[in-house]
Amino acid sequence: PSRSFSASAVRNAAINQVTVIGSGLMGAGIAQVAAQTGHKVNLVDLNDDVLKKAENSIKTSVSRVAKKQFKDDTEKGNKFIDETLTNITYMTDNNRSVATADLVIEAIIENVEIKRKLFSSLDKAAPSHTIFASNTSSLPIKDIAESTTRLDRFGGLHFFNPVPVMKLLEIIRIPETSDATYNKMVEWGKNMGKVTVTCKDTPGFIVNRLLVPYMMEALRMLERGDASARDIDTSMKLGAGYPMGPLELADYVGLDTSYYIVKGWAEKYPDNTLFENVPLLEKLIKEGKFGVKSGEGIYSYKK
Ligand code: 3HC
Repeated sequence: PSRSFSASAVRNAAINQVTVIGSGLMGAGIAQVAAQTGHKVNLVDLNDDVLKKAENSIKTSVSRVAKKQFKDDTEKGNKFIDETLTNITYMTDNNRSVATADLVIEAIIENVEIKRKLFSSLDKAAPSHTIFASNTSSLPIKDIAESTTRLDRFGGLHFFNPVPVMKLLEIIRIPETSDATYNKMVEWGKNMGKVTVTCKDTPGFIVNRLLVPYMMEALRMLERGDASARDIDTSMKLGAGYPMGPLELADYVGLDTSYYIVKGWAEKYPDNTLFENVPLLEKLIKEGKFGVKSGEGIYSYKK
């Protein structure tokens, strides 16, 4: 019901055309929600195989959203699905993808050098009004932004998995981010149907700064043998009201993702004991157990 309203809101908004670079779990989710809310979206990745995978996961997810939003009206639901899918263009050419973009969101691999290389090239290809943002979960926005000449039009836009379900959007300002850019990001977040919060460019911003050490502490508890994995998860669900326990969540986010986040922070902040290495996590990673995505992590997901 709110869709037609938000679509017309988008037509009058500063940010209408969105380019998402990186079509993994996060990038595909961001592209999907932008398309659902009436934005024209270019979704970019390295090759067609990866894009095909993203397209399939978007189709499945949009159908779930439609089922929920248009329970009693299949026709409207189908229209919503069609319009959403039509709003997305899949492409492999980074520079071409930003030619008419109002906003570019990067959701590629968590490697600062690769991100800097990408943005430095986009900086030359995009119009001057285009706002750049990174969806990084753990790298300093400033380190990425400095590869461009548009620090005033740069910020962090950090989403949560699954993007179509999680209501939060963290907006990160670097000291150079202008008020105009910040205000456009806030307005865009609202048009995306998200609740926005604002944070400085600090490690993990708000959510991951709290969530990652919490997951690490749960792993340490398991490692010590204080309680079973199931009991740790049951406790936090029934005793603290979390939708998932910390170990389930670690498997869901990806053990590799959490591992590299903590490793990066430990190197940067060696004195902070919260970021200390967890041998159990390291062992699981070495065994190729990354959580849900690899079929096994702390739990097994093999069918
Ligand atoms: N696309 C569309 N809809 C989806 C979806 C998806 N990918 N995943 C779930 N849904 C919908 C379902 O259709 C369902 O709709 P319904 O209420 O109409 O039935 C609803 O969401 C609930 O899903 P399920 O019934 O399948 O399962 P749950 O009730 O257990 O909810 C969950 C699943 C929303 C994932 C919930 O368990 C949850 O909130 N977990 C915590 C997630 C979390 O903490 N995420 C943040 C991780 S940190 C992060 O992302 C930051 C990064 O930088 C690391």
